[in-house]
Amino acid sequence: MERLLVTGGAGFIGSNFVHHLVEHTDLSVTVLDKLTYAASRESLAGLPEDRVQLVVGDIADEDTVDPLVAAHDAVVHYAAESHNDNSLHDPSPFIRTNILGTYTILEAVRKHDKRLHHVSTDEVYGDLELDDPKRFTEDTPYNPSSPYSASKAGSDHLVRAWVRSFGVRATVSNCSNNYGPWQHIEKFIPRQITNVIDGVRPKLYGSGENVRDWIHAEDHSSAVLTILEKGSIGETYLIGADGEKNNLEVVRLILTLMGRSEDDFDHVNDRAGHDLRYAIESGKLRQELGWQPQYQNFESGLADTIAWYQEHEDWWRPHKDATEAKYAQKGQ
Ligand code: NAD
Ligand code: TYD
Repeated sequence: MERLLVTGGAGFIGSNFVHHLVEHTDLSVTVLDKLTYAASRESLAGLPEDRVQLVVGDIADEDTVDPLVAAHDAVVHYAAESHNDNSLHDPSPFIRTNILGTYTILEAVRKHDKRLHHVSTDEVYGDLELDDPKRFTEDTPYNPSSPYSASKAGSDHLVRAWVRSFGVRATVSNCSNNYGPWQHIEKFIPRQITNVIDGVRPKLYGSGENVRDWIHAEDHSSAVLTILEKGSIGETYLIGADGEKNNLEVVRLILTLMGRSEDDFDHVNDRAGHDLRYAIESGKLRQELGWQPQYQNFESGLADTIAWYQEHEDWWRPHKDATEAKYAQKGQ
């Protein structure tokens, strides 16, 4: 394998993955990205031009996708509409990109017999009770709650069907909530960090008891590369780093790490259909493929992330007012 096509490589996790590939492999990489509001060319700035090329285009456009897939050895598919809150406001781009886009990629890899890794989320499994000792496994039934998670569930089912019906050489991964550099400031952790930088109180949806299982984006990247290199065709792998925290704990930790009182936040309107808890059991990936996360300590990973946003204000500042204006309309 020499040439890799990475869809969505100008977004948060995709750009982290491209940086990871440049550092840890000899692969040459083509990023296919539509450059939506969530993308940034600057997230790929400074990478060697002889290793990384950006093609601006839509994964739902067959004329764009087909020749690119034909010219590469494998595809890692990150491109998606990714924000639950946006999917509650307007589901249509979620259906188009996440479902039709994945279908378009699948038809191209089928036609040209290329290896595919499909990147998905643990949100396809719905949510767990707060006091439930269970965590999600590869055998948990699908039960998505939001238009976002339902569209990702639909894309996963398409991949599984193309493996079974057409023998497409694909793997799937479902990962928990990521944090780290280059995450759009609409998302929970960077929204609160940039609020604190601006002297604005962090905004906690509802009671803040909702639990997310945090993993650093660098660990997600190493897991996806491990699956691409060693995963068994047709298999699904859950990716997680045992990072369960409720939102209240996360807000308090951000405030403390940034030198503010841990009570200096506001409760705002809750999200409709807000999933209570996600938790990943990642034993299959660890035992069968030998993967381990590097960021075992959430507090130090979060401190690194805070420092990154403090040092990269030029990257996020242009989006702050518009992002907050959207939340203000919803009382969030
Ligand atoms: P993101 O929104 O930051 O980035 C998505 C990227 O896809 C952007 O660069 C955007 O321009 C691109 N894109 C969107 N529509 C496109 C289209 N039609 N054609 C081409 N490119 C298009 O998202 P992210 O948080 O980096 O998530 C990446 C992937 O990882 C998604 O598939 C998401 O479901 C999955 N995932 C995310 C998380 C998380 O915590 N953020 C966790 C697990 C899985
Ligand atoms: P988010 O980053 O949107 O990820 P996801 O919906 O995929 O879990 O939100 C993470 C958690 O933080 C989720 O429980 C919703 C909550 N949240 C807030 O409390 N305040 C906020 O401003 C945002 C954006 C999210």
